[in-house]
Amino acid sequence: MTTTSTTAYWDLHWAGGRRYRQFDGPEQRLMDEYLGPSRGRPALDLGCGDGALARHLHHELGYRTTGIDISPSAVAPAADDEGPAPGPAWQCADITTSDLTGLPEPPYAVITCRRPVSPAETEILTFGWSAVQTADLDVLRCYALRH
Ligand SMILES: C[S@@+](CC[C@H](N)C(=O)[O-])C[C@H]1O[C@@H](n2cnc3c(N)ncnc32)[C@H](O)[C@@H]1O
Repeated sequence: MTTTSTTAYWDLHWAGGRRYRQFDGPEQRLMDEYLGPSRGRPALDLGCGDGALARHLHHELGYRTTGIDISPSAVAPAADDEGPAPGPAWQCADITTSDLTGLPEPPYAVITCRRPVSPAETEILTFGWSAVQTADLDVLRCYALRH
């Protein structure tokens, strides 16, 4: 069965050239404002796609970042898109079924996940955190969840 959580589903999207809303200036500024400088801490970006957010965390904010995605067709170009400085670590894995104990550098100071969420998912995602900050950005709503 192909569902929205399978490799086949997502790989078809990435291999077929499907791209998602760019991680651009306003979102970058919000990320910088909420997270601030890394002070050398590790970060994990779940469902990193083309890796734009992971690269921003790593190169601009200084987090030692790992990007993880289920789709080989997303992770391979993300890993190839290296500049002169060493970039994030990349892992191709399903976060719902893989053994994640082998990820580099846990526990993570910051875990990001940039994706569309339904109102029902939002309620589940934001429940039980001691601080939930939200910001509206055009068609995006950003959540910063902290213990
Ligand atoms: C809507 S896209 C967003 C991609 C990227 N975060 C961005 O903002 O451009 C969702 C991403 O999550 C990945 N993904 C979906 N299910 C996953 C899973 N179970 N484990 C890891 N990655 C997953 C997909 O391959 C896809 O790259």
